[in-house]
Amino acid sequence: IVAQFQPKVLAGRRVVVTAGPTFEAMDPIRGITNHSSGKMGFAIARAAREAGAEVTLVAGPVHLPTPRGVVRVDVLSAQQMLQACLQATQNASIFIATAAVADWRPASRSEHKIKKDGSGQAPMLHFVENPDILLTVAQSERARAGRLFCVGFAAESENLVAHARAKRERKGIPLLVGNIGPLTFGQDDNSLLLVDAQGERELPRAPKLALARDLVAEIAQRLPGAVA
Ligand code: CTP
Ligand code: CA
Repeated sequence: IVAQFQPKVLAGRRVVVTAGPTFEAMDPIRGITNHSSGKMGFAIARAAREAGAEVTLVAGPVHLPTPRGVVRVDVLSAQQMLQACLQATQNASIFIATAAVADWRPASRSEHKIKKDGSGQAPMLHFVENPDILLTVAQSERARAGRLFCVGFAAESENLVAHARAKRERKGIPLLVGNIGPLTFGQDDNSLLLVDAQGERELPRAPKLALARDLVAEIAQRLPGAVA
């Protein structure tokens, strides 16, 4: 179905979506990141916009075009992503965290390129844990007052249902979406497992944009004040 025929179930709502990987620098030219393509998050931002929302897309380093009508904020690190999200969610009613945030970053960042010292020994890298963006936003005053509906994503390599249930509770969020394996990156199709307080529901394999539209409809139904 084309965009103009999408029901405007999110008209007047502000939505913030995170997408892509983060990049955690160790020196001016190197860092650690992961293979997240950002496609699912970009599809969700597009679907939310088509559904009438004002959408801010907080994107890590990805090579994807900005969906039409969406405000994009580019970031590199998890710390930058957190700041952008805290800012953007201040007047939002939905937060959807699809980003594959690096769990750790190098404990310090060298101002200059780290050089081989000729000893044949590799440098020791120390890591510290990054802030949990979803957890932080879900614990904000706005979310705890029930005015910001938070949605998480999870990719697990085993035991999806059990891990997804536990993760939903640990993050204190109403809805967690599991990527149904196998773990693949950059594909255009996906299938999703929706986990909420009631139980689980599967959205069968489909193109990411179709899934994103279904997910937007599922979220709209769960908002406070929505007509069932
Ligand atoms: N997330 C986040 N900030 C982090 C880590 C994760 O916002 N520092 C969000 C992700 O965007 C996703 C959800 O939390 O929506 C779950 O991410 P995941 O990596 O599956 O969970 P973790 O809590 O990091 O646990 P682990 O990787 O150990 O399974
Ligand atoms: Ca993680």
